[in-house]
Amino acid sequence: MKKILRTAALALAGALALTALSGCSGGASASGVQIIRIGHNQSTNHPTHTGLLAFEEYIEGELGDKYDIQIFPSELLGSQNEMVQLTQTGAITFCVASNSLLETFSDNYTLFNLPYLFASPEAYHASMDDPNIVGPIFESTMQAGFEAVTWLDAGTRNFYTINTPIETLEDLRGLKIRVQQSPTNVRMMELLGGSATPMGFGDVYTALQSQMLDGAENNELALTDNGHGDICKYYSYTMHQMIPDILIGNLDFMEGLSEEERAIFDEGFQILNQTQRDAWETAVEEAKEKAENEQGVNFSYPDITPFQEAVAPMHQEMLEDYPDLAPIYELIQEHNAEYPADSQ
Ligand code: GCU
Repeated sequence: MKKILRTAALALAGALALTALSGCSGGASASGVQIIRIGHNQSTNHPTHTGLLAFEEYIEGELGDKYDIQIFPSELLGSQNEMVQLTQTGAITFCVASNSLLETFSDNYTLFNLPYLFASPEAYHASMDDPNIVGPIFESTMQAGFEAVTWLDAGTRNFYTINTPIETLEDLRGLKIRVQQSPTNVRMMELLGGSATPMGFGDVYTALQSQMLDGAENNELALTDNGHGDICKYYSYTMHQMIPDILIGNLDFMEGLSEEERAIFDEGFQILNQTQRDAWETAVEEAKEKAENEQGVNFSYPDITPFQEAVAPMHQEMLEDYPDLAPIYELIQEHNAEYPADSQ
Protein backbone atom coordinates (compact mmCIF):
# COMPACT_ATOMS: atom_id res chain seq x y z
CA MET A 1 0.00 0.00 0.00
CA LYS A 2 2.78 2.36 1.05
CA LYS A 3 4.65 1.44 -2.14
CA ILE A 4 1.60 2.14 -4.30
CA LEU A 5 1.11 5.51 -2.59
CA ARG A 6 4.77 6.38 -3.09
CA THR A 7 4.61 5.43 -6.78
CA ALA A 8 1.48 7.54 -7.26
CA ALA A 9 3.09 10.39 -5.37
CA LEU A 10 6.24 10.25 -7.46
CA ALA A 11 4.17 10.27 -10.65
CA LEU A 12 2.27 13.31 -9.36
CA ALA A 13 5.47 15.00 -8.24
CA GLY A 14 6.99 14.34 -11.69
CA ALA A 15 3.95 15.80 -13.41
CA LEU A 16 4.10 18.82 -11.10
CA ALA A 17 7.77 19.34 -11.86
CA LEU A 18 6.95 19.37 -15.59
CA THR A 19 4.16 21.87 -14.95
CA ALA A 20 6.64 24.11 -13.20
CA LEU A 21 9.15 23.80 -16.02
CA SER A 22 6.48 24.94 -18.43
CA GLY A 23 6.21 28.07 -16.31
CA CYS A 24 2.65 27.39 -15.21
CA SER A 25 3.09 27.36 -11.42
CA GLY A 26 0.20 26.44 -9.16
CA GLY A 27 -2.15 25.43 -11.97
CA ALA A 28 -5.50 26.94 -12.88
CA SER A 29 -8.78 25.08 -13.15
CA ALA A 30 -11.28 25.59 -15.98
CA SER A 31 -13.07 28.24 -13.90
CA GLY A 32 -9.83 30.24 -13.70
CA VAL A 33 -9.44 29.52 -10.01
CA GLN A 34 -5.78 28.97 -9.15
CA ILE A 35 -4.95 25.71 -7.42
CA ILE A 36 -2.65 26.03 -4.41
CA ARG A 37 -1.06 22.72 -3.49
CA ILE A 38 0.27 22.29 0.05
CA GLY A 39 2.26 19.16 0.90
CA HIS A 40 3.20 17.75 4.30
CA ASN A 41 4.41 14.44 5.69
CA GLN A 42 2.01 13.89 8.61
CA SER A 43 -1.24 11.93 8.81
CA THR A 44 -4.68 13.56 8.67
CA ASN A 45 -4.93 13.11 12.50
CA HIS A 46 -1.92 15.34 13.11
CA PRO A 47 -2.28 18.92 14.47
CA THR A 48 -0.46 20.19 11.37
CA HIS A 49 -3.21 18.81 9.12
CA THR A 50 -5.88 20.29 11.42
CA GLY A 51 -4.11 23.67 11.23
CA LEU A 52 -3.88 23.51 7.44
CA LEU A 53 -7.60 22.73 7.19
CA ALA A 54 -8.30 25.91 9.20
CA PHE A 55 -5.97 27.82 6.83
CA GLU A 56 -7.83 26.40 3.81
CA GLU A 57 -11.20 27.34 5.27
CA TYR A 58 -10.10 30.90 6.00
CA ILE A 59 -8.37 31.58 2.66
CA GLU A 60 -11.19 30.04 0.61
CA GLY A 61 -13.72 31.99 2.70
CA GLU A 62 -11.94 35.24 1.81
CA LEU A 63 -10.53 34.50 -1.63
CA GLY A 64 -12.40 31.39 -2.80
CA ASP A 65 -13.20 32.95 -6.19
CA LYS A 66 -9.48 33.13 -6.87
CA TYR A 67 -7.77 30.26 -5.04
CA ASP A 68 -8.54 26.60 -4.43
CA ILE A 69 -6.39 25.18 -1.60
CA GLN A 70 -5.55 21.48 -1.89
CA ILE A 71 -3.76 19.75 0.99
CA PHE A 72 -1.67 16.61 0.37
CA PRO A 73 -0.76 14.78 3.63
CA SER A 74 1.39 11.68 4.30
CA GLU A 75 4.25 12.40 1.86
CA LEU A 76 1.82 12.08 -1.07
CA LEU A 77 3.89 14.70 -2.87
CA GLY A 78 7.19 13.09 -1.86
CA SER A 79 9.56 13.27 1.09
CA GLN A 80 10.14 16.62 2.80
CA ASN A 81 13.36 17.04 0.86
CA GLU A 82 11.52 16.48 -2.43
CA MET A 83 8.68 18.79 -1.39
CA VAL A 84 11.08 21.63 -0.55
CA GLN A 85 12.55 21.34 -4.04
CA LEU A 86 9.09 21.27 -5.62
CA THR A 87 8.26 24.43 -3.66
CA GLN A 88 11.45 26.10 -4.86
CA THR A 89 10.55 25.47 -8.50
CA GLY A 90 6.91 26.43 -7.99
CA ALA A 91 5.59 22.96 -8.85
CA ILE A 92 3.77 23.18 -5.52
CA THR A 93 3.00 26.41 -3.71
CA PHE A 94 3.64 25.50 -0.05
CA CYS A 95 5.01 22.66 2.01
CA VAL A 96 5.74 21.99 5.66
CA ALA A 97 9.39 21.15 6.28
CA SER A 98 11.27 20.45 9.45
CA ASN A 99 13.74 23.18 10.36
CA SER A 100 16.37 20.39 10.35
CA LEU A 101 16.10 19.94 6.61
CA LEU A 102 16.10 23.65 5.87
CA GLU A 103 19.63 23.80 7.29
CA THR A 104 20.83 22.18 4.06
CA PHE A 105 19.18 24.99 2.05
CA SER A 106 20.35 27.92 4.22
CA ASP A 107 23.02 27.83 6.96
CA ASN A 108 21.08 30.18 9.23
CA TYR A 109 18.58 27.44 10.07
CA THR A 110 21.40 25.58 11.85
CA LEU A 111 20.67 27.66 14.95
CA PHE A 112 17.25 26.17 15.79
CA ASN A 113 18.61 22.64 15.30
CA LEU A 114 21.17 22.94 18.09
CA PRO A 115 20.61 20.41 20.86
CA TYR A 116 19.54 21.93 24.17
CA LEU A 117 19.22 25.39 22.61
CA PHE A 118 15.97 26.21 24.42
CA ALA A 119 15.81 25.86 28.20
CA SER A 120 12.10 24.94 28.26
CA PRO A 121 9.11 24.65 25.90
CA GLU A 122 8.07 28.13 27.11
CA ALA A 123 11.44 29.59 26.10
CA TYR A 124 11.12 27.80 22.73
CA HIS A 125 7.66 29.24 22.09
CA ALA A 126 8.68 32.75 23.20
CA SER A 127 11.73 32.61 20.92
CA MET A 128 9.77 31.38 17.92
CA ASP A 129 7.19 34.13 18.52
CA ASP A 130 9.92 36.79 18.66
CA PRO A 131 10.20 38.57 15.27
CA ASN A 132 13.75 39.68 16.13
CA ILE A 133 14.72 36.02 16.30
CA VAL A 134 12.79 34.39 13.47
CA GLY A 135 12.69 37.43 11.14
CA PRO A 136 16.34 37.40 10.03
CA ILE A 137 16.35 33.61 9.71
CA PHE A 138 13.10 33.36 7.76
CA GLU A 139 14.26 36.08 5.36
CA SER A 140 17.52 34.31 4.64
CA THR A 141 15.96 31.73 2.31
CA MET A 142 14.67 34.23 -0.23
CA GLN A 143 17.73 33.57 -2.40
CA ALA A 144 16.86 29.87 -2.33
CA GLY A 145 13.48 30.55 -3.96
CA PHE A 146 11.19 30.19 -1.00
CA GLU A 147 9.86 32.24 1.89
CA ALA A 148 9.32 30.87 5.39
CA VAL A 149 5.91 32.15 6.46
CA THR A 150 5.15 30.61 9.85
CA TRP A 151 6.36 27.98 12.29
CA LEU A 152 4.55 24.96 13.72
CA ASP A 153 5.11 23.13 16.99
CA ALA A 154 6.86 19.79 16.79
CA GLY A 155 7.34 19.33 20.54
CA THR A 156 10.52 17.94 22.04
CA ARG A 157 12.65 15.22 20.50
CA ASN A 158 13.54 12.19 22.61
CA PHE A 159 15.13 8.79 21.94
CA TYR A 160 13.08 5.64 21.49
CA THR A 161 14.51 2.20 21.02
CA ILE A 162 13.51 -1.37 20.24
CA ASN A 163 15.38 -3.45 22.82
CA THR A 164 16.94 -1.38 25.59
CA PRO A 165 15.95 1.93 27.23
CA ILE A 166 18.29 4.91 26.98
CA GLU A 167 19.00 5.88 30.57
CA THR A 168 22.64 6.96 30.23
CA LEU A 169 25.05 7.93 27.47
CA GLU A 170 26.52 4.45 27.74
CA ASP A 171 23.16 2.98 26.65
CA LEU A 172 23.40 4.86 23.33
CA ARG A 173 26.91 3.70 22.53
CA GLY A 174 27.09 2.05 19.12
CA LEU A 175 23.30 1.97 18.60
CA LYS A 176 22.07 2.74 15.11
CA ILE A 177 19.72 5.66 15.53
CA ARG A 178 17.78 7.28 12.72
CA VAL A 179 18.30 11.04 12.59
CA GLN A 180 16.93 13.69 10.26
CA GLN A 181 19.07 14.48 7.22
CA SER A 182 21.12 17.39 8.52
CA PRO A 183 24.79 17.86 9.48
CA THR A 184 23.77 19.12 12.95
CA ASN A 185 21.92 15.91 13.72
CA VAL A 186 24.79 13.73 12.54
CA ARG A 187 27.25 15.73 14.71
CA MET A 188 24.90 15.46 17.69
CA MET A 189 24.82 11.67 17.47
CA GLU A 190 28.57 11.56 17.03
CA LEU A 191 29.02 13.44 20.34
CA LEU A 192 26.39 11.32 22.09
CA GLY A 193 28.16 8.12 21.04
CA GLY A 194 25.43 6.59 18.87
CA SER A 195 25.72 5.73 15.21
CA ALA A 196 23.76 8.31 13.19
CA THR A 197 21.64 6.89 10.38
CA PRO A 198 20.11 9.79 8.42
CA MET A 199 16.97 9.00 6.42
CA GLY A 200 13.62 10.49 5.44
CA PHE A 201 10.75 10.23 7.91
CA GLY A 202 8.64 7.95 5.71
CA ASP A 203 11.34 5.27 5.59
CA VAL A 204 11.79 4.96 9.36
CA TYR A 205 8.98 2.49 10.11
CA THR A 206 10.29 -0.16 7.69
CA ALA A 207 13.88 0.38 8.84
CA LEU A 208 12.82 -0.16 12.46
CA GLN A 209 10.71 -3.17 11.56
CA SER A 210 13.60 -4.85 9.76
CA GLN A 211 15.87 -3.94 12.71
CA MET A 212 18.18 -2.07 10.36
CA LEU A 213 17.89 0.55 13.12
CA ASP A 214 18.04 0.13 16.90
CA GLY A 215 15.92 3.21 17.41
CA ALA A 216 15.09 6.75 16.42
CA GLU A 217 14.31 10.09 18.04
CA ASN A 218 11.23 12.24 17.74
CA ASN A 219 8.21 13.60 19.59
CA GLU A 220 5.55 11.27 21.04
CA LEU A 221 3.30 11.45 17.97
CA ALA A 222 5.77 9.36 15.96
CA LEU A 223 4.96 6.44 18.28
CA THR A 224 1.26 6.45 17.51
CA ASP A 225 0.64 8.38 14.30
CA ASN A 226 3.52 6.69 12.51
CA GLY A 227 3.29 3.38 14.37
CA HIS A 228 6.87 3.46 15.68
CA GLY A 229 5.57 2.50 19.14
CA ASP A 230 4.46 -0.86 17.70
CA ILE A 231 8.14 -1.70 17.38
CA CYS A 232 9.97 0.53 19.91
CA LYS A 233 8.95 -0.13 23.50
CA TYR A 234 11.27 2.32 25.27
CA TYR A 235 10.86 6.10 25.07
CA SER A 236 13.36 8.16 27.09
CA TYR A 237 12.84 11.87 27.76
CA THR A 238 16.30 13.16 26.87
CA MET A 239 14.62 16.35 25.58
CA HIS A 240 17.62 16.94 23.33
CA GLN A 241 15.97 19.18 20.71
CA MET A 242 12.91 21.35 20.14
CA ILE A 243 12.91 21.71 16.37
CA PRO A 244 10.05 23.64 14.80
CA ASP A 245 8.39 22.75 11.52
CA ILE A 246 8.22 25.62 9.04
CA LEU A 247 5.63 26.39 6.37
CA ILE A 248 7.47 27.58 3.30
CA GLY A 249 5.94 29.20 0.22
CA ASN A 250 7.22 29.56 -3.33
CA LEU A 251 8.83 32.98 -3.62
CA ASP A 252 7.31 33.93 -7.00
CA PHE A 253 3.85 33.10 -5.68
CA MET A 254 4.38 35.08 -2.49
CA GLU A 255 5.76 38.09 -4.36
CA GLY A 256 2.93 37.94 -6.90
CA LEU A 257 0.25 38.48 -4.24
CA SER A 258 -1.34 41.94 -4.11
CA GLU A 259 -1.03 43.84 -0.83
CA GLU A 260 -4.62 42.98 0.12
CA GLU A 261 -4.15 39.30 -0.70
CA ARG A 262 -0.88 39.19 1.22
CA ALA A 263 -2.65 40.59 4.30
CA ILE A 264 -5.27 37.83 4.02
CA PHE A 265 -2.61 35.14 3.60
CA ASP A 266 -0.71 36.56 6.61
CA GLU A 267 -3.87 36.26 8.69
CA GLY A 268 -4.26 32.69 7.37
CA PHE A 269 -0.70 31.83 8.47
CA GLN A 270 -1.54 33.15 11.95
CA ILE A 271 -4.68 31.00 12.05
CA LEU A 272 -2.66 27.96 10.98
CA ASN A 273 -0.02 28.63 13.66
CA GLN A 274 -2.59 29.13 16.42
CA THR A 275 -4.82 26.19 15.48
CA GLN A 276 -1.85 23.83 15.22
CA ARG A 277 -0.43 24.94 18.58
CA ASP A 278 -3.81 24.74 20.30
CA ALA A 279 -4.17 21.14 19.10
CA TRP A 280 -0.60 20.13 19.99
CA GLU A 281 -0.74 19.61 23.74
CA THR A 282 -3.85 17.42 23.63
CA ALA A 283 -2.41 15.43 20.73
CA VAL A 284 0.75 14.71 22.76
CA GLU A 285 -1.27 13.67 25.84
CA GLU A 286 -3.42 11.35 23.72
CA ALA A 287 -0.37 9.89 21.98
CA LYS A 288 1.33 9.21 25.29
CA GLU A 289 -1.74 7.53 26.65
CA LYS A 290 -2.20 5.36 23.62
CA ALA A 291 1.49 4.45 23.46
CA GLU A 292 1.52 3.46 27.12
CA ASN A 293 -1.78 1.61 27.28
CA GLU A 294 -2.25 0.15 23.81
CA GLN A 295 1.25 -0.21 22.42
CA GLY A 296 2.98 -1.05 25.72
CA VAL A 297 5.64 1.66 25.44
CA ASN A 298 7.62 2.40 28.64
CA PHE A 299 8.38 6.07 29.27
CA SER A 300 11.42 7.03 31.31
CA TYR A 301 13.01 10.26 32.52
CA PRO A 302 16.81 9.97 32.59
CA ASP A 303 19.12 12.59 34.11
CA ILE A 304 19.74 14.78 31.07
CA THR A 305 22.85 16.56 32.43
CA PRO A 306 25.39 14.15 30.85
CA PHE A 307 23.57 14.44 27.50
CA GLN A 308 23.67 18.24 27.72
CA GLU A 309 27.35 18.22 28.60
CA ALA A 310 28.24 15.89 25.72
CA VAL A 311 26.75 18.16 23.05
CA ALA A 312 27.60 21.52 24.70
CA PRO A 313 30.60 22.09 22.35
CA MET A 314 28.15 22.38 19.45
CA HIS A 315 26.97 25.79 20.68
CA GLN A 316 30.50 27.19 20.52
CA GLU A 317 31.17 25.47 17.19
CA MET A 318 28.05 27.05 15.70
CA LEU A 319 28.97 30.51 16.97
CA GLU A 320 32.44 30.16 15.49
CA ASP A 321 31.16 28.89 12.13
CA TYR A 322 28.34 31.45 11.89
CA PRO A 323 29.30 34.56 13.91
CA ASP A 324 26.37 36.47 12.34
CA LEU A 325 24.01 34.27 14.34
CA ALA A 326 25.53 35.34 17.70
CA PRO A 327 23.09 38.24 18.36
CA ILE A 328 20.12 35.96 17.68
CA TYR A 329 21.63 33.27 19.93
CA GLU A 330 21.92 35.92 22.67
CA LEU A 331 18.25 36.90 22.27
CA ILE A 332 17.32 33.25 22.80
CA GLN A 333 19.37 33.27 26.03
CA GLU A 334 17.16 36.13 27.26
CA HIS A 335 14.06 33.99 26.76
CA ASN A 336 15.89 31.08 28.43
CA ALA A 337 16.58 33.31 31.46
CA GLU A 338 12.92 34.29 31.59
CA TYR A 339 11.68 30.70 31.22
CA PRO A 340 14.34 28.42 32.73
CA ALA A 341 14.08 24.63 32.72
CA ASP A 342 12.18 24.47 36.01
CA SER A 343 9.48 26.87 34.71
CA GLN A 344 7.79 23.83 33.05
C1 GCU B 1 8.59 15.44 13.22
C2 GCU B 1 8.42 16.70 12.42
C3 GCU B 1 8.49 16.41 10.93
C4 GCU B 1 9.76 15.65 10.59
C5 GCU B 1 9.87 14.42 11.45
C6 GCU B 1 11.21 13.70 11.21
O1 GCU B 1 7.51 14.59 13.00
O2 GCU B 1 7.17 17.28 12.73
O3 GCU B 1 8.48 17.60 10.20
O4 GCU B 1 9.78 15.27 9.25
O5 GCU B 1 9.80 14.78 12.81
O6 GCU B 1 11.80 13.22 12.15
O7 GCU B 1 11.65 13.64 10.06
